[in-house]
Amino acid sequence: MTAFILGPKVYMGGSNVSTVLAGVKKVLVVTDKFMNDSGKVKYVTDYLDSINAQYEVFSDVFAEPDVETVKAGLAVMASLQPDCVVAFGGGSPVDAAKAIKFFWEQQEGASKHRLVVIPTTSGTGSEVSSVAVIGDKEKGVKYPLVSDSLLADSAILDASLVVSVPPRVTADTGIDALGHAIEAYVSINHTDFSDAMAEKSIELICEHLPTAYKTSDDMEARQAVHNAACMAGVAFNNAGLGLTHAMGHPLGATFDLPHGRAIALLLPYIMNYNAGCSTILTETAKRYAALARLLYLDVSGTRQSALSFIRSVRFLIDKIGIPTRIKDTGINKEDFENALESMATDALADATLASTPVPATKQQIIDLYRSAYDGKY
Ligand SMILES: NC(=O)c1ccc[n+]([C@@H]2O[C@H](COP(=O)([O-])OP(=O)(O)OC[C@H]3O[C@@H](n4cnc5c(N)ncnc54)[C@H](O)[C@@H]3O)[C@@H](O)[C@H]2O)c1
Ligand SMILES: [Zn+2]
Repeated sequence: MTAFILGPKVYMGGSNVSTVLAGVKKVLVVTDKFMNDSGKVKYVTDYLDSINAQYEVFSDVFAEPDVETVKAGLAVMASLQPDCVVAFGGGSPVDAAKAIKFFWEQQEGASKHRLVVIPTTSGTGSEVSSVAVIGDKEKGVKYPLVSDSLLADSAILDASLVVSVPPRVTADTGIDALGHAIEAYVSINHTDFSDAMAEKSIELICEHLPTAYKTSDDMEARQAVHNAACMAGVAFNNAGLGLTHAMGHPLGATFDLPHGRAIALLLPYIMNYNAGCSTILTETAKRYAALARLLYLDVSGTRQSALSFIRSVRFLIDKIGIPTRIKDTGINKEDFENALESMATDALADATLASTPVPATKQQIIDLYRSAYDGKY
């Protein structure tokens, strides 16, 4: 039997704060310093003020949150005792909020608190996933917490919130979402349901991400990419991810790269490996060929069609200003070589590897990191 989690109630296309937060009494708002200091958090707090709700804003969340952040948030939770947690921001504050609420409920044996997620980047899909990624900066490791109790109750997808996202973040987060959809689509656990979410997400991202990157206030493109990131979240939350994320987590943690950038630096190389285009063609090549068909990129033959889709992903990454080789990010060759052994060990231990379609040995992972560094397929 296969189950499919649809997840929270998703409101899209405008502010729905008054509907979603109706009746709350005490709220912990988790965000990051930028969203707080720039006043963007008023999107939530203005409404809370208007209904005289008690609230506290916890904004000590840094990019790629770690255990210390969660501990600090738990202390605020303990003193406020809220009935609702609102996560407002990119994947970093959203994951921090989810982890804080999760550990609070574990620690206190407390009943489930309402969790509302309002993403302000279009990438992680964390608003609909049962996942929170928390890092340990000292060990250079990221741990994905996975539990259905990490699922939000409601999410608001309001494109007006992402208009201010800078192009570089739009690019990184957009490719993160694309990576979620593609990895879910070729996962060993994909189903018709996850395929539907992944396919629509891929179509929307390929069509609208370049515009969202170039013209930040194009609302149609922004809402399309925002919706697509959420759909990719539903897809991977059910089907799982794969080798790109397994290798991307240690790459990002070791060299302090944003999550989406680490994914973008690896994605086409891993797709090429999965398809076996340079060796023996795999079943996964047929899945990429199906995506080529979806985007009217197919040519004759599975190999050529799969290659055509992989090439289009590489072009998209290049078009939105992301380096297509790790060496072009300024990471020193010697530092990279020195980190290979431990990154490969961590990649092999990463939970996302469980659903990858084509297994890889430690040596193959090291070779793939080297290919992505030098830009060789
Ligand atoms: N839980 C999941 O399912 C899941 C999936 C993928 C990634 N992640 C995690 O999510 C985190 C990354 O999240 P992210 O890529 O959204 O980045 P982020 O939350 O770290 O945000 C990136 C930057 O964008 C800024 N920003 C956010 N919203 C903005 C706005 N509206 N206007 C201007 N600037 C804005 C932030 O202040 C920050 O500087 C990582 O920790 C990653 O591991 C989680
Ligand atoms: Zn991701």
